[in-house]
Amino acid sequence: MTQPNYDFVTAAPIVPVLVIDQLEHAVPLAKALVAGGLPALEITLRTECALDAIEAIAAAVPGAIVGAGTVCNRAQLLECQNRGARFIVSPGSSDAIFQAAHDAQLPLLPGVATASEIIHAKEAGFEILKFFPAEINGGAKALKAYSGPFYDLQFCPTGGIGPDNLADYLALPNVIAVGGSWITPKSAMQAGDWSKITDIARQAVALAHGIRNAA
Ligand code: 3PG
Repeated sequence: MTQPNYDFVTAAPIVPVLVIDQLEHAVPLAKALVAGGLPALEITLRTECALDAIEAIAAAVPGAIVGAGTVCNRAQLLECQNRGARFIVSPGSSDAIFQAAHDAQLPLLPGVATASEIIHAKEAGFEILKFFPAEINGGAKALKAYSGPFYDLQFCPTGGIGPDNLADYLALPNVIAVGGSWITPKSAMQAGDWSKITDIARQAVALAHGIRNAA
């Protein structure tokens, strides 16, 4: 059986978590982020046009690795795959979503916050997990503690991460990438200020590489 490809989580140290309110924003936003060095894009299923946005980016932005976030069940996962999503992120974990990802052969980041949830996801064969919501569940300190018992797992924390605490996370060897919405401020999205978003992405990538090189 072909193993799902997790290149989206190694393509860059940051995965932007995107809430797209207007479909016409999707393609220019994706192009702006790819230009800024962030090719893996998590489109959250929190808006009416999210699925259309996934489809539009998959069709028109070849440099993007487009995925879906806020995926909570099998039906959503399959619909996202039909629309062109190449990876799936879930805020939580369930046997049904694990099975759906396995059946679809799609890479999934299951959401976990506790040791028991980590064991549940590990038993289902997942080795890269979304730690969510990161900051209110102990943040980088919790991930450092998990590196002992779960030495063979990697995490992509999201929830409350930004330039001020990025270093706490990216300096940890068990953090493969971080996710966050700070790259795409609502004001820049509403103004269609795509070059500003490219600048924020570039700065974040430079900061991330600096942190990784110093770690
Ligand atoms: C997510 O869905 O991963 C989070 O909502 C992203 O969290 P943030 O908005 O605090 O970056």
